[in-house]
Formats: sequence, structure tokens, C-alpha cells
Amino acid sequence: MPDQKQLVLPFNLVKRHLRSVESRITQQAEQFDPEVREYLSYILHTSGKRLRPALVLLTGGATGGIDPHHLNLAVIIELIHLATLVHDDIIDEAGTRRGQPTPNAKWGNATTVLLGDSLFSHALRLSTRFDDSDVCRRIADATCDVCGGEIIQTKRRGDWSVTHQEYSRIIEMKTGSLFIIASELSARLNKADEARVEACAEYGRKLGAAYQIYDDCLDMAGTEETAGKTLRTDLYKGKLTLPLLKLLETSNDIEHAQIVRLLEDSTPESVAELVRRTVRGGHVKAAIQEAADLVNEAQQKISVLEDSDYSQAMRNIGETLLQMLDKLER
Ligand code: IPE
Ligand code: IPE
Ligand code: MG
Ligand code: MG
Repeated sequence: MPDQKQLVLPFNLVKRHLRSVESRITQQAEQFDPEVREYLSYILHTSGKRLRPALVLLTGGATGGIDPHHLNLAVIIELIHLATLVHDDIIDEAGTRRGQPTPNAKWGNATTVLLGDSLFSHALRLSTRFDDSDVCRRIADATCDVCGGEIIQTKRRGDWSVTHQEYSRIIEMKTGSLFIIASELSARLNKADEARVEACAEYGRKLGAAYQIYDDCLDMAGTEETAGKTLRTDLYKGKLTLPLLKLLETSNDIEHAQIVRLLEDSTPESVAELVRRTVRGGHVKAAIQEAADLVNEAQQKISVLEDSDYSQAMRNIGETLLQMLDKLER
């Protein structure tokens, strides 16, 4: 399994709850027809970093306590995340995820699209259990935003005029949305006041953006052994990432034309050359700095929360992300 797993875990405080979330996630396969169950069982047993469930639990602890509603929310958000990954791996034609063959590699795209749909629908089915229908609505909104972000990104593939602002909007939609609801709704379930709920939402927004930038740098400069997933798909698929955006922004007309040609070639050689140019030009480093700034902003947002081991752990997630960024090739 990926080394990063060891890294992303200042989660000791919620270890027991995370175990409970884990078993609830794997149990969800039982809710499906036996013939569907075998596929979903495979997907639900792959173990990711469970970052979003941890965010739900830590925010819960920091805003009044963790109760069964938080466990339910953690399961739902992880299922939505899984659904997006299942679909994303089809889009990217990725063969490995979480150190194992992707569903599309095992069973083809037709079955896999439907498995992703089943995970989305099941997550929304579970979200109807909250007494407050606003919670359910916010989960559905965030799910639409994730899909919207992926759609816009797909639409803009190969368009090298995407601006930093547009890039930021895409990552906030596709990745930020689930980080936002993880923290915001966890606080809302505890009936925290609006200022705290809003602070948690903003924390999630900043942390989510930083995390996607980290992931973009990983795609550019990481190794598949460490990441446990197929990398460089952003380059092969013409997805704009922050390091690449910075490479394009700082190139003159001749270099710009060369870079676009390399991107259009989309061969192992052209991709290797793009990685070389991006890393040597200091663009991964510049993107890492931007992510670090977002982490700091995220940490500041939660200064309104009472000091506790939980709010400290929320800040520690930021520290761990900074360490992960630091370990990347630059
Ligand atoms: C991967 O998310 C997709 C992104 C939004 C960057 P994670 O890195 O949280 O994936 P898992 O859940 O640990 O596999
Ligand atoms: C994140 O984007 C996917 C979603 C948020 C749906 P990526 O395409 O960067 O995720 P990985 O790198 O495949 O995990
Ligand atoms: Mg992908
Ligand atoms: Mg990625």
C-alpha cells in the first residue's frame, strides 16, 4: 500500500470511530442485489486514506462531540468520494488505484459507470436518514458540484488558455466540495453557531484546494509505487494542473508552442519531457508554495473554535499535508 497512508494520519484521536466507519462502509455492499454485491464489495474493501471521514469526525469532536449522525455523514461522504473515483478512473483510463486494479480495468467501462451510479444513489439514500432535510440537500448540492467540476474539466481538456481563476474554480468544485461538507455539516449536526459552521466550511474549502494541488503535484512528480495509483494521467489526458499552468504562464511564445506540441503528442517521451521542464523550471515548487499558503489560511479559519485536542488535530492535518508536499520531488 502507498507510503502516504502512514503520513496522512494525525487521526489517533478518532481511531475507534474510524474503525466503526470502516466497518459500516464495507457493510454497505449488503444493501445491494447479490449479483451487484460482489463488485461493490471489491470497491468498498479498497482502503484509501479516509481523509474525508477523519475530517467529519475531528470537526465533530471540535464542535461538541461525535455521535452516530457523524458516523453516518462520514460513510456517506466517503461513498460519494468513491463514486467519483470510480468514474474518474474511467475518464482517465487509469489501471491502478489504492494499489489495486481499478474497476474499469477489471470489468470494463459499462459495468463501472453503473457501479459509480449505484454508489452515488446509495449515498443519497443514506442521506435521507438525517432529520434535518437541509443536511440531505447540502450533500446533494455538493455531489452536483463534484460532477460539475469534473464536467468542466473534461470540457476544457486540451484548452491551454484556462486561467488560474478558472483552475481554482474547477478544483473547488471537484475536490473542495466534499471537504467543505465534511467539515461544515459535521459542525451543523452539532448545532454549532453560524460563525463556527461557516469557519468549518471555509477550512474545508481551503484544505480541499490545497489537497488537490498536492495531488496535481503528485501526478506530475510522484511515483506510482508511492502513490498506489496510475500517474501522469493529467498530462496524457490534457487536464490542466497547477504546475503545468505555471509552466505555461512563464513560457515565451516559442516555448509555449513547444509545450503545447509536447502535450498534443501525448507519448511517454513527450510526457517525460513535460515533467522534466516543469520540475526543473521550479513550477512544482511554486505550486507547493501555493498549497502551503492555502493550508495556512485553512488553519487560520478555525481559530474561532475552542482550543481542544480535536481542533489541534484539525490543524495537524494541515501540518501533515505540508510534510507530504515537502516530500515531493522538486
Ligand atoms: C484522490 O483522493 C482524489 C482527489 C480528490 C485528489 P484521495 O487522495 O483522498 O484518495 P484516497 O481516498 O486516499 O484513495
Ligand atoms: C480528483 O481528480 C477526482 C475527483 C475529485 C473526482 P484527479 O483526477 O486528480 O484524482 P486522481 O489523481 O485520479 O486520484
Ligand atoms: Mg484521475
Ligand atoms: Mg490527480
